[in-house]
Amino acid sequence: MARQVQLRDQNKGTGVIVAPSLLSADVLNIGCHTDKIIDSADWLHIDIMDGHYVPNLSYGPSLVKALRKRYTNALLDTHIMVEAAEDFIDLFAETGTDVLTVHYEAARHIHRAVQRIKSADLYAGVAINPGTCASLLTQVLPCLDLVLVMSVNPGFGGQSFIREALDNVRFLKRFRAEHNLNYVIEIDGGVGVGNIAEIVKAGVDAVVAGSAVYGAPDPARAVAALKEKANYHGTVQNI
Ligand code: DX5
Ligand code: ZN
Repeated sequence: MARQVQLRDQNKGTGVIVAPSLLSADVLNIGCHTDKIIDSADWLHIDIMDGHYVPNLSYGPSLVKALRKRYTNALLDTHIMVEAAEDFIDLFAETGTDVLTVHYEAARHIHRAVQRIKSADLYAGVAINPGTCASLLTQVLPCLDLVLVMSVNPGFGGQSFIREALDNVRFLKRFRAEHNLNYVIEIDGGVGVGNIAEIVKAGVDAVVAGSAVYGAPDPARAVAALKEKANYHGTVQNI
């Protein structure tokens, strides 16, 4: 089965897709905090951590289910940082998430994992860490709806952007054009108003932003500010 609408078209207009990461939300008020950005954000990014693959623990599938119940029409973008990722696909397929992204480095059989995500009728994403070269993905890229380029080492919000991640973005952009593919290139970690223009210029379609959004006094304004910087200095300037 395949979703009818291309993931790249799942945004609220033109320009870069902004996906605030819940990891930086106030855990005692996740619902209220997320209500503030639900209209301005394109997607909701949910980071699941197992304490093994990454040195941190976060949420489980029940949070994704609760978000789906509260925001029926939101696009839920779930990023699982768990070992043996393929063992968790069925569990997350039941949550109502739209996108399920597994780590290339954490799947025993990445192609099998991607096939399983797609057969559950979800958009399939694969994430790569800053130390992984995107060229390792060439065999699976034709099957993917999304590639998540980590620009920090996974596990925590609020880290500094690792510039070499942009080499992976450029490779993925070039490969997509050469092979007439349609996956979304998403970047995750250390993105803010100070660097989003350069990141979008390198070829990113979607940005995850945790502390830059949920850490701001007015999260909705923070999303608007990211979009403004991205679209003016990135997309528009490229024309
Ligand atoms: C890190 C997570 C990110 C993180 C981003 O493992 O995947 O989504 O929350 O947070 P910032 O934007 O604060 O770097
Ligand atoms: Zn993430």
